Amino acid sequence: MIKYLSKSQIEELIMDIEKKTKLNIPPIKCQGIKTKLVSWIKDNLSDIKFDRWVEPFMGSGVVGFNIRPRKAIFADTNIHLINFYNAIKSGEITTAIARSFLESESIKLAKSGQKYYNEVRERFNISFKPLDFLFLNRSCFNGMIRFNRFGKFNVPFGHKPKRFSKAYITKIVNQIDYISQAVKLLDWQFICQDFRVTLKILDKNDFVYCDPPYLGRHVDYFDSWNEEDEKDLFNLLDKSNSKYILSTWHSNQYRSNKEIEKYKQQNIQTKEHFYYVGASEKNRNAMTEALILNYMLPKQNIDYTVQSGVQLQIMEPKRKYKTRK
Ligand SMILES: C[S@@+](CC[C@H](N)C(=O)[O-])C[C@H]1O[C@@H](n2cnc3c(N)ncnc32)[C@H](O)[C@@H]1O
Repeated sequence: MIKYLSKSQIEELIMDIEKKTKLNIPPIKCQGIKTKLVSWIKDNLSDIKFDRWVEPFMGSGVVGFNIRPRKAIFADTNIHLINFYNAIKSGEITTAIARSFLESESIKLAKSGQKYYNEVRERFNISFKPLDFLFLNRSCFNGMIRFNRFGKFNVPFGHKPKRFSKAYITKIVNQIDYISQAVKLLDWQFICQDFRVTLKILDKNDFVYCDPPYLGRHVDYFDSWNEEDEKDLFNLLDKSNSKYILSTWHSNQYRSNKEIEKYKQQNIQTKEHFYYVGASEKNRNAMTEALILNYMLPKQNIDYTVQSGVQLQIMEPKRKYKTRK
């Protein structure tokens, strides 16, 4: 018999899995966050030695933050992501400051709900304060990051006026704490720049993890992606002497990702998982993710288990990628 879980049971389950697998979840979330791929990416890094981790499309930073390299460049064109982490680095945001900010904002949000959310959104769109960005990211619809063509944050309210419970604030503060500690101990740089600039400064001892937007998927002020970007990324990776992993999608039941074909000389690892549309078991769709590596590991045929998530993921053996004619 199939047992369906309630939303809060699913949230609890996710929190439990996250705790057990000791994944460090970043304070700012974004669409396309690769939390579920971290262990797979780690397996594909295995014993690879490198001096510096370079992440030209940091997004939430979840991959690099969990790899925890000694030296890293986290870059992105979204200035608000970069400002947030630089504010932690400079001490403008500390755990105490974040806690007291979220506690006072939580009272106002609980009292006025959407009206207060809109007020903070307006305030952010004038002053672009990193703590307001955190507040919006954690109270907007689905934790999305989306900016209109004038560079203004335009995600609607997530309709949870009691979002910032004491436990939730503590969770966010702990996520900030992980970064605060890391940036004190490690040499991590957060830079707002286009991937072309980041990839031009590569050294052969760098390791590059690329997770660009998918062609034809998101289009917003910071997150547009076109054929030319796709080509430039390929050419720069192709020319570089660094080892890299490129994350992308491989196929779903309707289509396969044609953009992968240009990487056919590389080592393409795939992993299939299922996601559900609605609650019914019948609406189970398969999606295959790909990691493109420009190197081979001695033991590439390992089974991969998933670190977190309510989606059922299955293991898939390494297979040779064939181009479709
Ligand atoms: C798919 S997300 C990365 C997700 C990230 N790996 C994670 O797990 O959270 C892609 C990121 O690329 C950034 N981006 C889009 N175009 C860019 C460009 N031309 N140069 C650098 N970053 C870009 C976006 O702002 C977005 O944060």
